[in-house]
Amino acid sequence: MSTAKKEYKRITTKTLVDMKKRGEKISMLTAYDYTMAKIVDGSGIDVILVGDSASNVMAGHETTLPITLDQMIYHAASVVRAIERSLVVVDLPFGSYQSDPKEALRSAIRIMKESGAHAVKMEGGREIKESIKRILNAGIPVMGHLGLTPQSIYKFGTYTVRAKEDEEAEKLVEDALLLEKAGCFAIVIEKIPAKLAKRIAEKLTIPIIGIGAGNGVDGQVLVTHDMIGMTHEFNPRFLRRYLDLYSEMTNAFSQYSKDIKSGDFPSDSEQY
Ligand code: KIV
Repeated sequence: MSTAKKEYKRITTKTLVDMKKRGEKISMLTAYDYTMAKIVDGSGIDVILVGDSASNVMAGHETTLPITLDQMIYHAASVVRAIERSLVVVDLPFGSYQSDPKEALRSAIRIMKESGAHAVKMEGGREIKESIKRILNAGIPVMGHLGLTPQSIYKFGTYTVRAKEDEEAEKLVEDALLLEKAGCFAIVIEKIPAKLAKRIAEKLTIPIIGIGAGNGVDGQVLVTHDMIGMTHEFNPRFLRRYLDLYSEMTNAFSQYSKDIKSGDFPSDSEQY
């Protein structure tokens, strides 16, 4: 067996823009901890998102609103320790960037300094333009997030498909152009009609990464725990489950319990 260390070419924000130019699709998944990030990175996924969906998936909150900047930094630092190749993007959580551009910059700096991540993601368009510019001016890459923006769930009132009406669709296109002009290196677009998402991806030179936005965009993102079936109550149409880990793990845990109670575990060969 060779002892040479594997050489990985790290993914950068420029790599993603070049991938779009070549028509090569971008893969992105979430991770919130070291062990999962190691598997995701080793699988060749281009971008790891330390999403504020950690608020739902890891902490059991109903929305993404409660997670704090300190908690996001903890998750992000755990992920960064695991990765060799993927680009790590971290969500600025609700309440850490909405009040003013200086607060936004302070939050972004803390994420970069304390976690070692490579970029931040922010939800919104024209409303947060000044904050995005301030962060970019400090040399921190920003990924935008438009369409269904879960941090505004109480404004929308529902998690249904966004921008079905012309007025909202046109605002979305304008916001996407504005984010590109401001200097974002990519935009996540969540849960909008596939035709509209394709139109935006064709209009912009930066990559559009979709979740529930069809196949006409430049890449796809899913929440890892959903796509491997560890969660099982969330079943939107856009979610493809590659595993049914909820059943697999339930079976394993209940077998373990049975084996303990029957005296089968540990066996002679499993003790000293
Ligand atoms: O927080 C998150 O996981 C996200 C993705 C759903 C895009 O923002």
